[in-house]
Amino acid sequence: MAFSEQVLEEIQSKADIVEIVGSYIPLRRAGRNYKANCPFHKEKTPSFMVSPSKQIFHCFGCGAGGNVFGFVMKMENLDFPEAVRALAEKTGVELPRFTRSQFETSGYALQIYKLNELAASFYSSMLSGTDAGRRAASYLKERGVSDDIAAKAKLGFAPDDWSGLINFAKGKGVSVELLERAGLVMPREGGGHYDRFRNKIIFPIFDIKNRVVAFGARVLDNSLPKYINSPETEVYIKSRHLYGFNFSLQAVKEKDFCIIVEGYLDFLVPYQNGITNIAASLGTSLTELQARLIKRYTKNVVMLYDGDSAGEAASLRGLDIFLQEGMQVRVATLPKGFDPDSFVRAKGAGEFDSLIAGAADLFDYKLGVLASRYDAKRSSDKAKMCAEMLPTIAKVSDAVLKSEYVKRLGERLQVSEGALLSELKKVRPDREYEPSEELSSSAGKSQAAMAEKIIIGLMLDDPETIAQVKEALKAEDFTDGGTRKIAEEIFSSYGDGKSFKPAQLINKLAESELTALIAEATSLTDDIKDRAKNLSDCIRWMRCNNGKSRLSELQNLIKAAQMMGDEKRVTQLVAEYSGLVKCQKDFARR
Ligand code: GTP
Ligand code: MN
Repeated sequence: MAFSEQVLEEIQSKADIVEIVGSYIPLRRAGRNYKANCPFHKEKTPSFMVSPSKQIFHCFGCGAGGNVFGFVMKMENLDFPEAVRALAEKTGVELPRFTRSQFETSGYALQIYKLNELAASFYSSMLSGTDAGRRAASYLKERGVSDDIAAKAKLGFAPDDWSGLINFAKGKGVSVELLERAGLVMPREGGGHYDRFRNKIIFPIFDIKNRVVAFGARVLDNSLPKYINSPETEVYIKSRHLYGFNFSLQAVKEKDFCIIVEGYLDFLVPYQNGITNIAASLGTSLTELQARLIKRYTKNVVMLYDGDSAGEAASLRGLDIFLQEGMQVRVATLPKGFDPDSFVRAKGAGEFDSLIAGAADLFDYKLGVLASRYDAKRSSDKAKMCAEMLPTIAKVSDAVLKSEYVKRLGERLQVSEGALLSELKKVRPDREYEPSEELSSSAGKSQAAMAEKIIIGLMLDDPETIAQVKEALKAEDFTDGGTRKIAEEIFSSYGDGKSFKPAQLINKLAESELTALIAEATSLTDDIKDRAKNLSDCIRWMRCNNGKSRLSELQNLIKAAQMMGDEKRVTQLVAEYSGLVKCQKDFARR
């Protein structure tokens, strides 16, 4: 993924911005610069300018600006590496091999895309070609899914058969190994494989290039789990995709906002009813990567989650994530008991549009939620409400808007604006402090791996914690091969005294086999509130855990020291021994 500066400069030296921009829109000379009507917003008099000496473009109207890569990204809706590749091709600059991410280039990735395509066509043929499939089709019909949208989204049916797909794929010459790599089959204990998806409705998940990257599968009744998904594979990192976004790119761009819903049906049913600027986050927690994906097309989002408490919590989280990315976010609230799918069916597209149009701005939405949780008349509750509002307000990037929110908060809660402003300065821009539950709830699940992943996640989130971890642990203390490698990489990048950007490290490691692990580690720490406490808990846990082998070692050392008559050493070793024992007991009690 990472391109060397040299290569980027070489491309820039050959891709003159005036020529590149001029190949898309007519430019007029104006003094030292060139002018045009801005291609990124509607205007009658030109406020878009290109500077040949600085090799940049800028629009005084809409604020768009950047270098030649940025222009191509915006113009063609590409991400950075894609824009680099496009310009490299145009200018005949040869890119070093392996600059594309592992996902794109590994031979397996290409094979998995193809296989996914094949599997999707298998599942969709099952939907119309078998009795069971037709029952699934009529289920979809009952749910109000039209034939058109079912065809467009390539919905399908996985037969109730342990080897339906396996046999089909074998007939096409596909190896079971590849099926397993694609997450479509699972190994049987004692040998052999079986289909992952059986007796389920299949929702292929596409990337924005319309490639099938994974599958979601729903049961046909009320049994649980309701949905299962493909695991992460070489072509699928869950946190990077939005369901249906490939179908809505154009509309999102045109309407300049995107509606975010939760589920497959919440996308499909509104979409078929003409609400086409919509995408589903699949599950409740929206990720930064999803937000960034949307941001490539629009800065404006309206979240529309279920009208229940899970939906409320998800909206609050999503709100902060969008804000953090500098996006404009509003939240629409569904009446209780509705989800976007049932709402459109019950009330029609018109009311759906009004619901979206009436979405609350972040301030009103969040304060409304807090008002239902606290008693705004009690001063202790007021303080709590402020404490919850301020971190969100702190994320607002527009300074004018930010001070406006502070003012409104002061008015609503009758707290002095000055006091709020000085509080606001104390807010760490990331998270508020609250007792942690995450760690104890996850205790018991392979604790070592969990603790290690959480530590990694916390270090990636906040480089300031690295020194602390480094002081307490060595890379070798990480027992899992993957987390150890990541820790080594972090420690060494940090140790050089170089300035350290977690994003770069992620890029670097993202080309290795550690991607899934990194994604998992960062998503684990996503929701952690009390980060300091979690960090010290995890460190302590790792020390205790690693202490087990140290304990038996200590027993021997103590014996040896006793035999040597080295009393000072004995005391010292015994102290270490009992400290470790106590630490393990403490932890066992959690
Ligand atoms: P319907 O019940 O068919 O309307 O589905 P839904 O999409 O409305 O379900 P819900 O609102 O309960 O969940 C929203 C999204 O969360 C789903 O579309 C799935 O992506 C995800 N989800 C829900 N339940 C499960 C589950 O049991 N397992 C997994 N992996 N994901 C789930
Ligand atoms: Mn639903």
